[in-house]
Amino acid sequence: MHQKLLQLIDSKQAKVGVVGLGYVGLPLIRAFANAGFKTIGYDVDQTKVKKLLAGESYIAHIPDTWIKEWIAGKTFEPTADMARLKEADAILICVPTPLNDSRDPDVSYIESTGRFIAKTLRPGQLVVLESTTYPGTTRDVLVPILNASGLTVGKDFFVAYSPEREDPGNPNYTASGIPKVVGGIDQASFELAHKLYSFAVVKTVPVSNCEVAEACKILENTYRAVNIALVNELKILFDRMGIDVWEVIDAAKTKPFGFQAFYPGPGLGGHCIPIDPFYLSWLARKYQLTTRFIEVAGEINIGMPMYVVNKVADALNDIGKPIRDSNICILGMAYKKDVDDPRESPSFELLEILLARGANVTYSDPHIPKLPKMRHHDVPEMSSRDLTPDFLGSQDCLLIATDHTAFDYESIVKHGRIVVDTRNATKLVKQGREKIRKA
Ligand SMILES: NC(=O)c1ccc[n+]([C@@H]2O[C@H](COP(=O)([O-])OP(=O)(O)OC[C@H]3O[C@@H](n4cnc5c(N)ncnc54)[C@H](O)[C@@H]3O)[C@@H](O)[C@H]2O)c1
Repeated sequence: MHQKLLQLIDSKQAKVGVVGLGYVGLPLIRAFANAGFKTIGYDVDQTKVKKLLAGESYIAHIPDTWIKEWIAGKTFEPTADMARLKEADAILICVPTPLNDSRDPDVSYIESTGRFIAKTLRPGQLVVLESTTYPGTTRDVLVPILNASGLTVGKDFFVAYSPEREDPGNPNYTASGIPKVVGGIDQASFELAHKLYSFAVVKTVPVSNCEVAEACKILENTYRAVNIALVNELKILFDRMGIDVWEVIDAAKTKPFGFQAFYPGPGLGGHCIPIDPFYLSWLARKYQLTTRFIEVAGEINIGMPMYVVNKVADALNDIGKPIRDSNICILGMAYKKDVDDPRESPSFELLEILLARGANVTYSDPHIPKLPKMRHHDVPEMSSRDLTPDFLGSQDCLLIATDHTAFDYESIVKHGRIVVDTRNATKLVKQGREKIRKA
């Protein structure tokens, strides 16, 4: 089985299946399609599959023309029919891994995908988990579900883990340009996964097993969460001392070694950084250990929206207004610059707190025309506002939560009454700086 699949991969005859066609899955399809493999994409969301079949993309950096080309060239077949999982020689799993209501790992999407695969699992298939998760998930959660098919891992079918490192909105890196860490359940599985990815990405990084690859991804994201918390905490301290944290970071990053710049903001957002470290804390508890850095970082980052709201209150106070009945427009609902992804965005927390305090809140985000439903927030129906001079002038406070390139910061400061800037987005604005409050 192993040799046969290796030959299929080597000759690019292997069909690559991707389960979960979201921010990670669709760019992965692109990497394999570009490498000359036939791909088949599976998603339980019929709406997404229908859009793809109609040649429409729902991910900003994947244009419609690519989808149309792939479908016309038969290099990509989207489907919601999970019975077709048997057609793929390699199945790459890119489904969500959120936290549940008590902030413990929710691996139910991996489990349900595993059950789908087990139903049609056939000898000679390779299954690779790409979703971010705690060390041990592939071996202890996914493999037992697949083994229930009656086939044997390492002999009949093969399993590996290779974390996705997609950085949405970063034009310098596509999925194929980022080195890929690969760990197998056993040597045979490793060889197959390693060979497969070596065609699609710039570099593969072999590691001893799935657990190392899983831990590697969590380390990368924990490193970001902790460092962002550090600068968020220092932002509060330096602000009290009358020191501009952004200027400090810009100066510090001129050191050519030993320092990497991280930037403060209104909190932490996205599907990864606010969530993944807690997968590790949960696991640590099973080993009677606590991950103190993760807990402290979480506490600081979660507290940032409240800090920002207090800054808004101070700024309004300066013009003799309370938050109640003030017109406040939040600029940017996406969790980071130039993306259309609202997941875990602190802007929603800001919206909720300001509404609860009686403000008349609106928002503007060129990437999010309408507010979507959110898992953890009660979101009112709202559409993005155009930042015309009249509209800007009608607001008591403009709160910059995301530093999208599309915003005209000169105009925002010129026409606004007060601008609370959580991203140092107005740093180049020359006129009207007295209206800007950094937060
Ligand atoms: N978004 C990122 O920047 C990023 C970066 C690196 C890693 N990751 C990780 O990659 C994984 C996927 O993240 P994403 O951002 O692509 O999520 P996403 O929500 O954009 O996409 C996941 C897709 O999986 C589909 N799905 C859910 N259950 C399914 C099932 N049982 N069968 C088939 N499809 C199913 C959903 O409908 C959705 O389209 C997560 O573990 C995430 O932590 C994300």
